[in-house]
Amino acid sequence: MDVPRFSGVVQLGCCPVGLEQCLRNQFCGSKRSSSDGTRVPSEPGKLVQGPALAANSLRRRAEKAYTARVGRPKSEIPANKRDEHENTAMPAEFDGYAAEGYSKLLSDPLRERFAGSEFFFQRKLILLRELCQRCGMNTERASWLDVGCGEGSLLKMGKPYFREVAGCDVSAGMLRHCEGLNVRRQDSAQRIPFDSGSFDLVTVVCVYHHVDVAERPALTADISRVLKAKGILCVIEHNPLNPVAQLIVRRSSVDSHAHLLTAGKVRRLARAVQMEVLGTHYFLFFPERYYSAMAATEARLSSLPLGGQYAVFCRKD
Ligand SMILES: C[S@@+](CC[C@H](N)C(=O)[O-])C[C@H]1O[C@@H](n2cnc3c(N)ncnc32)[C@H](O)[C@@H]1O
Repeated sequence: MDVPRFSGVVQLGCCPVGLEQCLRNQFCGSKRSSSDGTRVPSEPGKLVQGPALAANSLRRRAEKAYTARVGRPKSEIPANKRDEHENTAMPAEFDGYAAEGYSKLLSDPLRERFAGSEFFFQRKLILLRELCQRCGMNTERASWLDVGCGEGSLLKMGKPYFREVAGCDVSAGMLRHCEGLNVRRQDSAQRIPFDSGSFDLVTVVCVYHHVDVAERPALTADISRVLKAKGILCVIEHNPLNPVAQLIVRRSSVDSHAHLLTAGKVRRLARAVQMEVLGTHYFLFFPERYYSAMAATEARLSSLPLGGQYAVFCRKD
């Protein structure tokens, strides 16, 4: 077998089962010293470098992510019980933030100089209602689901304008703050706990950057499932192309595991489940104190990919 070489380091890679199999089995039978090419037995825990180190670190990250998501290490769950655990266990990340006081954790002088928490939701609701109007949706007759609704702030603000509103989230701790709302806890990061074809509008606000990249396509497919035919999906996210948004996210403990995504990535996720992308709207160009004077300018800038956040609107076929 042809083994890649790096001068002066000991490397794995000569194992006949191959790296992928090796990772799956968490086993490597032997390693080769690059100085003379001779095989030496593996020593668990010994420092290795190069591709092996990268592979070990990937495996550790995958194991950590699995344990965080399912609540127990994979090795402790019998293979025939894994489905059960994977589907019912809850990620604890936002339960922890809810317990510590989510809004307290969001507080940041830079964010507050830009706008107060209430304004961020007001601005989104304005955008959402404009969108519904443009799509010819009469919100007073429409049903709206907010996926990853958190403490339900947007739903509470928007509820008077819709016939019916509902929310879901993987975090029971966040949902505890949704008093007065019809909310359900998600047993799985990829499954929405509502019937197919139930909603005219689904929003997903600042959620995707907390979802594992590998889980995003399945989540999007399930969101499409709960939409009615011709229903609208609106995904709102922090804009990674805006340096202030980047900075605020980097400083926030709530976003310590976040992976921001561009509007292009959201559009690709939607198209992959056969949704039609209607448009992308950038907003939050100006701080709250200038918004009332600058609203018309902000609307004119909406196609410029520099606003603090963006909304991607899509329609189910
Ligand atoms: C930053 S908070 C945003 C909450 C709310 N949308 C808002 O704008 O205030 C992210 C929320 O997404 C939830 N979340 C993370 N992954 C999720 C998933 N796969 N499905 C549903 N909710 C998820 C978290 O539990 C958390 O409540």
